[in-house]
Amino acid sequence: MEKTTSPSGFKKGLTSYGDVGFSAFLRKAFIKGAGYSDDALSRPVIGIINTGSGYNPCHGNSADLIIAVKRGIQLAGGLPIDFPTISIHESFSHPTSMFLRNLMAMDTEEMIRAQPMDAVVLIGGCDKTVPAQLMGAASAGVPAVQLVTGSMLTGAHRGQRVGACSDCRRFWGNFRAGEIDETEINRVNDQLVASVGTCSVMGTASTMACVAEALGIMVPGGASPPAVTADRMRIAEKTGAVAVAMIAQKLTPEKILTPKAFENALRVLLAIGGSTNGIIHLTAIAGRLGIAIDLEAFDRIGRETPVLVDLKPSGQSYMEDFHHAGGLAAVLRELRPMLHLDALTVTGRTLGEELDAASPAFPQEIVRNRTKPVYAEGGIAVLRGNLAPGGAIIKQSAASKHLLEHEGRAVVFANAEDLARRIDDPALKVAADDILVLQGIGPIGAPGMPEAGYIPIPKQLARQGVKDMVRISDGRMSGTATGTIVLHVTPESAIGGPLALVRTGDRIRLSVASRSISLLVSDAELAARAAKVKRTPAKTAERGYLKLFLENVTQADEGCDFGFLRAAKMTAVAPAQNKSTSKPKKRR
Ligand code: FES
Repeated sequence: MEKTTSPSGFKKGLTSYGDVGFSAFLRKAFIKGAGYSDDALSRPVIGIINTGSGYNPCHGNSADLIIAVKRGIQLAGGLPIDFPTISIHESFSHPTSMFLRNLMAMDTEEMIRAQPMDAVVLIGGCDKTVPAQLMGAASAGVPAVQLVTGSMLTGAHRGQRVGACSDCRRFWGNFRAGEIDETEINRVNDQLVASVGTCSVMGTASTMACVAEALGIMVPGGASPPAVTADRMRIAEKTGAVAVAMIAQKLTPEKILTPKAFENALRVLLAIGGSTNGIIHLTAIAGRLGIAIDLEAFDRIGRETPVLVDLKPSGQSYMEDFHHAGGLAAVLRELRPMLHLDALTVTGRTLGEELDAASPAFPQEIVRNRTKPVYAEGGIAVLRGNLAPGGAIIKQSAASKHLLEHEGRAVVFANAEDLARRIDDPALKVAADDILVLQGIGPIGAPGMPEAGYIPIPKQLARQGVKDMVRISDGRMSGTATGTIVLHVTPESAIGGPLALVRTGDRIRLSVASRSISLLVSDAELAARAAKVKRTPAKTAERGYLKLFLENVTQADEGCDFGFLRAAKMTAVAPAQNKSTSKPKKRR
């Protein structure tokens, strides 16, 4: 019997003209208009997603990367075709980049699906781009490999090394406190971003790069080379070659992004002192494949996974130091007994095989030994309590030790506008041991869950030398930020979560040791307050993407993805609760 093979290369996914032969003929005619030969058009086609944009300096090396990826593809016998999708930069996205992540994920998924390609190279970097690309690629089901643009170089201010964006926040805090003047803050502004590339600390971009490598969806060693180095270009070339090889092996994302791979990635997130945003993004990517992230199990593995990487904001160094210290392989080697070494990677080899093949360890100070960690537990802890029945998180490794167990009086701000209006008002009654509470910045409330959870210290206290306070919100914070900051309070206040019921003067208790966040108000009083809260939706829109967003965005515990983009059913859990993981199913 004759074996039927599914179409490949340019014969894939023909445009519907009602005549298959004519569709293929027409497509060939058009692509030949760009000068391609029949030989070139007979090769496997590898799409390359170009997210270069004048509005995205974090992707400022995209053109060079594409040249290197194309070289790798052509050397391996494939035909590279680059195409654009949406690009998102943190500082150029109104109201917030997170509002646009799902739009980019949809763009990525549908353009991979619509255009003929046998494999795809995803070039991302800035915070929301890598999760968006992995969400889209996971749903599209075409062999995919992630390449990141790489971190920026560090600069120097008065002999002191600086880099975006932990130092941006530190210097701005100093300026608000009156410790430096306008001339100096303007001078440091020239030095914080010393080259193109992503933020130079373990912020969200670096976190997602490391997490992608740990998932096995990036070539080994691909997370750490800085943007403007020869190493970064060699990784790009290798990525192109790997993409070609993935076609014969039919290495689709669901074969790589398994529950075991997500557990490995969650371990790495904890061990690198990674961004709190990482947990939301991993939840969203896993959700595309029917894998639910269990926050309790995540917290449990956090108690046995120390922070090993001495990078800001949890430590002192920068991404280029991490690269020189051996990059993610050094972390994986240290975590080895805790990892699923049989998880498959884009190379077709397992994580364990890749670790065996990595360069040997050498003495260095950036990636610590497990016996001498930067922080004894994982960077992120999960909190529960009557204030956050659906969970909240805190980056304990970047918090002040003396505030990890704290009870204080709430000072409440109803939304971001209220905060902006009153935080620096000299008449604001606030003390250093109060707890600042910001409502209304969740996925629907703001909308888009902005990184406004890093509530500034009121100027009157900053000027007295107060550097940190307990702060609580239903929003997010930048991965580059530090402080005792409780985030992602779920459900959010805009949909009636208990955070909406907090009033100035209430007492709140935070206990990271017991993983609790409690509003010390009686149930009867809370019920009385809840009865008075208006039940109208906080935000509505008549049309457009905002309407789609408000009607479909899920809460943080479901990754803030759109409900209709997640798998129809969750069929597996990560981290596994010492049970064997079942094979996940996804829709479409
Ligand atoms: Fe792009 Fe930080 S702003 S990575």
